[in-house]
Amino acid sequence: MRLTERQRVLDALLQSTHGLWHPQPFREIRPQWSSEQPALAAELLALDDGAAEQLNHDGQAASHLLAKYFPEIAELPVLSEMPAHVAAPLIEHGSRWAWEIPGRKQSQIEAFAAAARPADLPVLDWCAGKGHLGRLLALQWQLEVTSLEIDPILCEAGEQLAAKGRVRQKFACNNALTVTDAFEPGQHAVALHACGDLHRRLITGGSAAGVARFDIAPCCYYRGVADVYQPLSASLKTTLTRDDTRLAVTETVTASPRLTRQRDKEMAWKLGFDTLRRELSEDSAYRSFKPVPPAWFRGDFTQFANLMAQRENLIVPSANLLAGFEQRGWQRQREVMRLSIVRHAFRRPLEIWLVLDLACYLEQQGYAVKIGRFCERQLTPRNLLISAQY
Ligand SMILES: C[S@@+](CC[C@H](N)C(=O)[O-])C[C@H]1O[C@@H](n2cnc3c(N)ncnc32)[C@H](O)[C@@H]1O
Repeated sequence: MRLTERQRVLDALLQSTHGLWHPQPFREIRPQWSSEQPALAAELLALDDGAAEQLNHDGQAASHLLAKYFPEIAELPVLSEMPAHVAAPLIEHGSRWAWEIPGRKQSQIEAFAAAARPADLPVLDWCAGKGHLGRLLALQWQLEVTSLEIDPILCEAGEQLAAKGRVRQKFACNNALTVTDAFEPGQHAVALHACGDLHRRLITGGSAAGVARFDIAPCCYYRGVADVYQPLSASLKTTLTRDDTRLAVTETVTASPRLTRQRDKEMAWKLGFDTLRRELSEDSAYRSFKPVPPAWFRGDFTQFANLMAQRENLIVPSANLLAGFEQRGWQRQREVMRLSIVRHAFRRPLEIWLVLDLACYLEQQGYAVKIGRFCERQLTPRNLLISAQY
């Protein structure tokens, strides 16, 4: 299916299912879909812990479950599947090129380098950090690389690594959002995990300046989104708030059992306090609160709730009253984990919608564009690579 066609079909499906992925069970105790589809809500609420955890992590399995109630959702996994890029074998550079790179990051960089294709053009490495990707590409492709990065400490460290490895790589210490002389016609721009407005600036600024090729693995799409995501490619039907845009990148693939327990406790305590606040203030609407200092979770629930109550200007309740709210927090945490499976089925489809917006924009500027996976999800869930050539 052509990218524009896929975009049109996915856009229509996401628009028509907005009521499933937009409501956050953390805020809305029972999202509206649960009264329209009580059997679905009952099936989810009856899941045991293991099944709930598994469905929260496996979007495709969650889509299959949802499709029993909303048959049109059966299309979602197909629309969200992208092929793997064909990896070209890398030349052996020994371990020296990879000084200082954590193992997982090194594997991501190598996978990116194996999936992108050289074009015998000068390379611009966008939002480069210490320029590890640029350094590998300079070696691999035997081309000159300019690595653009805002942080002078990272630029200096990168320059030292480049000198040590004797590679043709220089650094431009600059702000990607405001720089005016970074793009040149006939460049090959690469970006590994440049966040939100940083990858969008590369695409709009670079295509306007005549950059010949792009290889971009985007991440953190919500960065730089004020209230509502502004599509680049067309007037689309689906509207994403900043929070919806964030949903596209909320899954983790590496949480240890200890971190999972900590996450559950923090959620249960916040929900316990939310229940308390709703009752004490007789205001049943969800009110967001400022981020909670991690140290507040180190004591017990009574201490936590007292600190929160003081901060939110509520009369501090008695210890007797508080005990019940901790229990109710855990009860709501259990429910939130299960009801959230519905929106979690849409994480990857929302990401694909965002990536299609970037890719279709590039097509409109005259590029031939491909989207594929440059590595498996276990290495990084932000594993989509947009490759465009003029
Ligand atoms: C997620 S890191 C990716 C780094 C590198 N591409 C990699 O994959 O290892 C994003 C990088 O963007 C840089 N950055 C953030 N804002 C920037 C800006 N306005 N201009 C240039 N670089 C920026 C950060 O300092 C950081 O090094």
